[in-house]
Amino acid sequence: MSSQKKRSLTGLKPTGNLHLGNYLGALKPALELSKNYNCIYFIADLHSLTQNRDAEALASQTLDQVATWLALGLDTDKHTLFRQSDVPSVTELTWYLSCVTGHGLLEKAHAFKDATAKGQEVNMGTFSYPVLMAADILLYDTDIVPVGKDQKQHVEMARDMAGSLNATYGELLKLPEPLIQEEVMTIPGLDGRKMSKSYGNEVPLFCDEKSLRKKLMSLKTDSTGLEEPKELAGTTVGELFALFATTTQYEDLAVRLAKGGMGWGHAKEELFVAVNEHVKEMRDRYNEYRKDEPLLRKELAKGAEKAQSVASQTIARVRYAVGLR
Ligand code: ADP
Ligand code: TRP
Repeated sequence: MSSQKKRSLTGLKPTGNLHLGNYLGALKPALELSKNYNCIYFIADLHSLTQNRDAEALASQTLDQVATWLALGLDTDKHTLFRQSDVPSVTELTWYLSCVTGHGLLEKAHAFKDATAKGQEVNMGTFSYPVLMAADILLYDTDIVPVGKDQKQHVEMARDMAGSLNATYGELLKLPEPLIQEEVMTIPGLDGRKMSKSYGNEVPLFCDEKSLRKKLMSLKTDSTGLEEPKELAGTTVGELFALFATTTQYEDLAVRLAKGGMGWGHAKEELFVAVNEHVKEMRDRYNEYRKDEPLLRKELAKGAEKAQSVASQTIARVRYAVGLR
């Protein structure tokens, strides 16, 4: 991890099949930052334990994520890719932060408030989720954290916690900044709502061609008859097509639809071709990487070593400052 460039940190939980929303809304923008930042990417496996109870799935999804980052072109020599649990001092820092963090701050967290409002039982992991996330960020002297609007509050909380520890023990931790990438869009799912696993409306990023086609053909459209003219703009097909096709392809399809005599089924077929073209090479690379578990584990070991070299300095500094000498 060279020190000239500012450091960016991205964490992603190893949950289920990644979908096109995760790809365009999180993975791709995070990788774009690697041009200007010294980037750390990590698989937030400890965070997923607040909900995940399937050990086999967690282990396998962790490797899925490593293969995904590699398939998308992450250069692990220039940047760092590691698994959160490979650097156990993150849970130690979580404790030091917990001891200077008020219960009231965590009660303000959106996830906790939402769960409580729904009358759900909240486990302690979910309650202190923002403290573990703050530890992730602060352990690696992070300058910026690229986040969607939903995660901004967590970065602000990390700043608060760092501020509390610094106020008590001296300047120990760097205060991170959230980076909201305004150009990052919310990707619609098959039913027009935000694409999300929780709505079951997602299109997987890496599934075989046949399943991808089937998924996209199941996209909900209106029931305008085949002969009638149709407007592409403002429809889910149109929104998705705009993301994967060229401007010329988009305009061409819009013109043909507007003339009438073309059904949504044909448009969805073209959407499939565009998405498939876009993901094809990445998918092939993904499948190759995913088969090679020794390579994926070697990547994890390499990342763990790099992450550990930064973390060990931070944790030594904090241990000394709090009086654990
Ligand atoms: P899901 O809603 O499917 O459970 P997550 O909440 O696990 O997805 O999201 C992981 C990352 O992907 C987050 O950074 C989130 O902002 C991004 N993301 C998820 N769905 C979308 C979407 N439809 N459009 C843009 N970004 C998305
Ligand atoms: N909470 C993030 C999410 O649900 C994942 C995450 C954990 C993270 N630790 C992080 C993101 C640190 C950025 C920085 O998507």
